[in-house]
Amino acid sequence: MIDSEVQKTRTPQFSINEVLVNRWSSRSFAKYDIKDKELFSLFESARWAPSASNSQPWRFVYAKNGSSEWNGFFDLLIDFNKQWCKDASALVVVLSKKEHNGKPSMTHQFDTGAAWENLAIQAVSQGLVTHAMAGFDSAKARETLQVPQDYDVMIMIAIGKKGQKEKLPQDLQARESPNTRVPLSDIVMHGKFGNKAPIS
Ligand SMILES: Cc1cc2nc3c(=O)[nH]c(=O)nc-3n(C[C@H](O)[C@H](O)[C@H](O)COP(=O)(O)O)c2cc1C
Repeated sequence: MIDSEVQKTRTPQFSINEVLVNRWSSRSFAKYDIKDKELFSLFESARWAPSASNSQPWRFVYAKNGSSEWNGFFDLLIDFNKQWCKDASALVVVLSKKEHNGKPSMTHQFDTGAAWENLAIQAVSQGLVTHAMAGFDSAKARETLQVPQDYDVMIMIAIGKKGQKEKLPQDLQARESPNTRVPLSDIVMHGKFGNKAPIS
């Protein structure tokens, strides 16, 4: 079932699995001590993503809130992101291996993106929320986490339990609802670029 809160702003044009609509990047987190088992199920879901030649270029480095590594991860974020994700249960830095079998991979970022989406969808089914962030210092992340040069530092993810939006700063409260999408007919073409598909 599509969540009642989600239904207010999101209506799929065609029938799809509800979990896809119910995933949204909320910013309010309730303090929640996430169990290793919950976290590892998320990474497990990412493991089953498809990738070119089954190269599996995705890597995940995490820190739980309250751990000795947490501050090092949190300090990577830009101030905008720091203000809302301080109560997240875990922060993850997503890496992507640039080479496969000694050759540059043309698709590793695409593959790693698929793994991130698996994780985000799995989180919904576990009653957790995820929020991807490009707003962080990737060079500092490479240094802090000692990431080898043959990996790209892609994104960070905040993971946790959804909290009350009233705890967010005023401007973020106003933005704390599921957003929508451009129409399907804007993104699907039939036969050649620019030919609209017969979507009413
Ligand atoms: C690669 C990527 C980077 C993002 N970076 C940020 C960010 O730094 N801060 C933030 O608040 N949201 C960030 N977002 C969240 C997007 O704004 C959000 O996914 C988008 O508006 C679609 O909304 P939805 O995820 O709720 O469906 C990012 C999302 C992605 C996929």
